[in-house]
Amino acid sequence: MTDSAEFQLRTPTVTDGQAMWQMAVDSATLDVNSPYAYLLWCRDFAPTSVIAEVNGVAAGFVTGYRRPDQSETLMIWQVAVNTAHRGAGLAGRMLDHLAAALLTDGVTHVETSITPDNDASRRLFAAFARRWDTALACSELFGAELFPDSHLAENLFRIGPLRVEEAR
Ligand SMILES: CC(C)(COP(=O)(O)OP(=O)(O)OC[C@H]1O[C@@H](n2cnc3c(N)ncnc32)[C@H](O)[C@@H]1OP(=O)(O)O)[C@@H](O)C(=O)NCCC(=O)NCCS
Repeated sequence: MTDSAEFQLRTPTVTDGQAMWQMAVDSATLDVNSPYAYLLWCRDFAPTSVIAEVNGVAAGFVTGYRRPDQSETLMIWQVAVNTAHRGAGLAGRMLDHLAAALLTDGVTHVETSITPDNDASRRLFAAFARRWDTALACSELFGAELFPDSHLAENLFRIGPLRVEEAR
């Protein structure tokens, strides 16, 4: 397993869009958006996203945005770690990295949505709330009836407040 110290974390650029799309495809869990969507994300939401590399090769990413009507809330859209690097704490490290960077710019809460069948994601965000010693509230975001296909309901996890003294 890769030692977590070997991961380099940085802000993505448009040249990372293709690798991010590929990691979403390879995850076999995430809703895969178009390659174009990842390019746009890298252009317009780079400061609220992060990519991790090992020796220059993409190992994972987080995409997020600040809610337009609630800029203190960072909404995490997708988190992926390549199977070869899972279980080494990389996803948690990427979340801590983003939260610590944005805390100084006024972000106090993190939100994400999780389907009821995604244990790994639930545990990832529960562990994040524990590390930051803060509350985690769960509610329904989008019921299954809102989707055109067999998509499960998306539950909203809202975590915070994040405090400077807790910054990792
Ligand atoms: C979810 C995912 C990002 C976790 O990446 P990771 O780097 O392995 O996660 P971490 O090592 O930081 O572990 C974070 C927590 O999740 C738990 N976890 C990780 N993988 C797990 C799995 N397959 N099943 C259950 N729990 C899991 C860890 O035990 C840890 O919890 P703990 O601190 O209570 O022990 C990764 O499994 C993945 O890319 N999955 C496919 C895409 C996906 O489902 N993304 C999340 C939805 S946006």
